[in-house]
Amino acid sequence: MIDMELRKAKSSDKNKVLEFCKTTFSWGDYISDVWDDWILEGNLLVLTENDVPVAICHCSINIEQLWIEGIRVNKNLRRRGFAKRLVQESEFIAKNNNCKISQMLIATNNQKSLNLAGSLTYKKDEIWNFYSLLPKKINYKTNVKFATNNKSIIDFILSFTSSYVRSWRWLRLTNTNVKSLIDEKKILYSEHKGTINALAIFTKSDHFKNILMLTLIFGNENGIKEILSYLQNYAAQTNIVRIQILTKLKNLPKINTLEKKLSFYLMKKEIQ
Ligand SMILES: CC(C)(COP(=O)(O)OP(=O)(O)OC[C@H]1O[C@@H](n2cnc3c(N)ncnc32)[C@H](O)[C@@H]1OP(=O)(O)O)[C@@H](O)C(=O)NCCC(=O)NCCS
Repeated sequence: MIDMELRKAKSSDKNKVLEFCKTTFSWGDYISDVWDDWILEGNLLVLTENDVPVAICHCSINIEQLWIEGIRVNKNLRRRGFAKRLVQESEFIAKNNNCKISQMLIATNNQKSLNLAGSLTYKKDEIWNFYSLLPKKINYKTNVKFATNNKSIIDFILSFTSSYVRSWRWLRLTNTNVKSLIDEKKILYSEHKGTINALAIFTKSDHFKNILMLTLIFGNENGIKEILSYLQNYAAQTNIVRIQILTKLKNLPKINTLEKKLSFYLMKKEIQ
């Protein structure tokens, strides 16, 4: 008889999990990069058969929102409801922590996962485009400025976006964390003749070494070019190897080494 258990992952589960996560996607998988951090953060769930891990999923809670990530099921054991059970358990944890909303990110071409989310009544909330850009030194001054801590700029930022991306998690923006991001000099904009022509938030990835993540909120061609040049230069001087850009904008200007990678649906479900 098979003994099934759904429990919190232990460090000792790592090797067995990484074994079935080697070739998840055509490019491999990122679970090996995040495993240790996810164990420390908690809420890394594992489903076992006779104490052998066969499926995982991580969830985290931020301002009454559940974020679900890293759902992986051993290729030989799919279509048995394992992923569904892990997501439902994550939602259970969220409800116990007064979360109102659950979210996850799914590539627009990942039909299996879209079906999975659909079967659990998640809806496609937004489409985000993912671009990659390499660092580059520049020898001219840009019109890029850091946002300052005043009410009109905070209201302005919040009127354009309700979330930003940190380590591949979409986090809710509130007055309080906009203020913190401003204090940390993470919100920048480009200005032309007194008008803001691009706005973005950047963070250093907590889990992926030397990666800068940029949430590009809006911008015209010139403004975006200014912000990206500024960040390429900043990256070149700070050991960053890649800038990952997430944006709801449909088209970005043509820039050398700027490469469109994928598009994602931000999936959302109300859970209370
Ligand atoms: C996507 C994935 C997690 C699904 O795991 P799973 O345990 O096989 O899924 P479940 O058995 O819980 O399926 C639940 C529902 O998802 C959908 N689904 C799962 N696999 C599917 C497939 N191969 N084709 C179509 N729909 C599928 C179905 O709606 C299914 O319900 P049903 O079986 O009643 O029709 C698994 O295929 C996987 O690990 N894929 C690679 C990693 C990945 O894409 N992770 C998600 C990143 S967002």
